[in-house]
Amino acid sequence: MATATESVSRPQVRQTQCFIGGKWIPSSSGKMFDTLHPATEEVVAQIAEGDADDVNLAADAARDALENGPWATMDARDRGHLMYKLADLIEEEQDELAALETLDNGKPISDAQAADLPLVVDCLRYYAGFADKIHGQTIPVRGNYFTYTRREPVGVVGQIIPWNFPALMAMWKWAPALAAGCTMITKPAEQTPLTCLRMARLAQKAGIPDGVINVVPGYGPTAGAAIVKHPGVDKIAFTGEMATAQIIMRDAAETLKRLTFELGGKSPNIVFADADLDAAVEGSHFALYFNQGQCCCAGSRLFVEESIHDEFVERLAAKNRETKIGDPFEPATQQGPQIDQDQLDRILGYIDLGKKEGANCLTGGARHGDRGYYVEPTLFDGVTDEMTIAKEEIFGPVLSVLKFKDIDEVTRRANDTQFGLAAAVWTRDIGKAHHLAAKVKAGTVWINCYDVFDAGAPFGGFKMSGMGRELGEAGLQAYTESKTVTVALD
Ligand code: NAI
Ligand code: MG
Repeated sequence: MATATESVSRPQVRQTQCFIGGKWIPSSSGKMFDTLHPATEEVVAQIAEGDADDVNLAADAARDALENGPWATMDARDRGHLMYKLADLIEEEQDELAALETLDNGKPISDAQAADLPLVVDCLRYYAGFADKIHGQTIPVRGNYFTYTRREPVGVVGQIIPWNFPALMAMWKWAPALAAGCTMITKPAEQTPLTCLRMARLAQKAGIPDGVINVVPGYGPTAGAAIVKHPGVDKIAFTGEMATAQIIMRDAAETLKRLTFELGGKSPNIVFADADLDAAVEGSHFALYFNQGQCCCAGSRLFVEESIHDEFVERLAAKNRETKIGDPFEPATQQGPQIDQDQLDRILGYIDLGKKEGANCLTGGARHGDRGYYVEPTLFDGVTDEMTIAKEEIFGPVLSVLKFKDIDEVTRRANDTQFGLAAAVWTRDIGKAHHLAAKVKAGTVWINCYDVFDAGAPFGGFKMSGMGRELGEAGLQAYTESKTVTVALD
């Protein structure tokens, strides 16, 4: 794919309806909702607003495809081939999809091109290879019996997608579900339905049978909740806010659905004085400011060892003063707008709290401009563990720096949180690095790097950052049920 050097033109929005049973249809209620371009606050399209009636139709279509359609009887290897085909089609339209992502989410086009779309394609190809490699076991049991296990698709999967990586988060859920032979109802975030709908069109073009992938755009408490409560949906995969996961867990209790959650964090990023400081400055800046700070694993608590603290903070501040903030369709832009007015208000609220609670605001600290949901890259020094900005997820370009003296102290403080999604440590001492990797309660630990994702590397949270894992072979577990079969041999 070409990396853009000149301003990328706005893509055309083509898919705006619900996609159910292979048909593009308006919502049953006829209602529509607006999706905006966060850089200008302009409406870019009106999208069908699905709710419980549409979810009912989608659940029927998904059930029919699971039990009666060609998907149910297709050879596993052929299922994999269809997934490879979809990956090829997405790759062919990568530039268009990246532009669509930038239009809907506001992220810099250079990020959408270099990160989001290549990761979408890679994830799909990774799981395509699994389609014919999902094995049971043969098990020696007492007596004259033959016992084996089968791994069968968990069934109809409900997938509730966030807005920070719209296409990628959809693919983290589609790919293992397709490999396992499941069928699905996907609800993209109300802020960002466009790439998911376009990928559904490509899935149909690739030959994935009708009813396997159904997309119902709409809001969380209506369409989302209807998916969670539907008795014909067997499993929910959700990425988003902890409080939403708690609602989903309650709503799913009635039907005892299988649940996987990928939630937020307050991830500790720990820099020792013996680290490669150039790499640590770059990495720590990226850890927080990438994607406008809208990352579940953002390194939002930056612990810096006392002896290097002043220099380190100055270098971070200098980087913030150079950040190119602006039109996300300009290839040189490094920081785009936040997703919407709610997030803008929420982030500015946290910045005010940081100032009130006595943190030292070194850069930023305000809205940028008056059009679009931009926030200046903000750096707080002198942050202490009790401050709200050190405890709660901000999900914006706001970095908190905390000082530490020694490894035991920083290990304790790193773990003093309800979250446990990710952590990082920067040091040249491998003993220290592995000590921390073992002690930190987090689903992912990066050593001398940050935000290194791979479709093969499991990702998910300890504690209140989630349940279960996505990606890797571990990510497939949630999409299969194990069945034990025992045969009397005489
Ligand atoms: P959210 O959790 O409300 O939204 C995520 C998805 O859940 C959307 O598709 C939404 O429509 C759906 N949803 C909302 N309520 C639902 C319900 N009752 N039943 C079923 N589905 C429902 O997150 P929101 O409000 O967009 O953002 C709030 C905060 O959540 C952010 O500031 C951030 O801290 C966190 N967040 C974390 C993400 C992550 O990657 N872990 C992604 C997005 C948000
Ligand atoms: Mg919400």
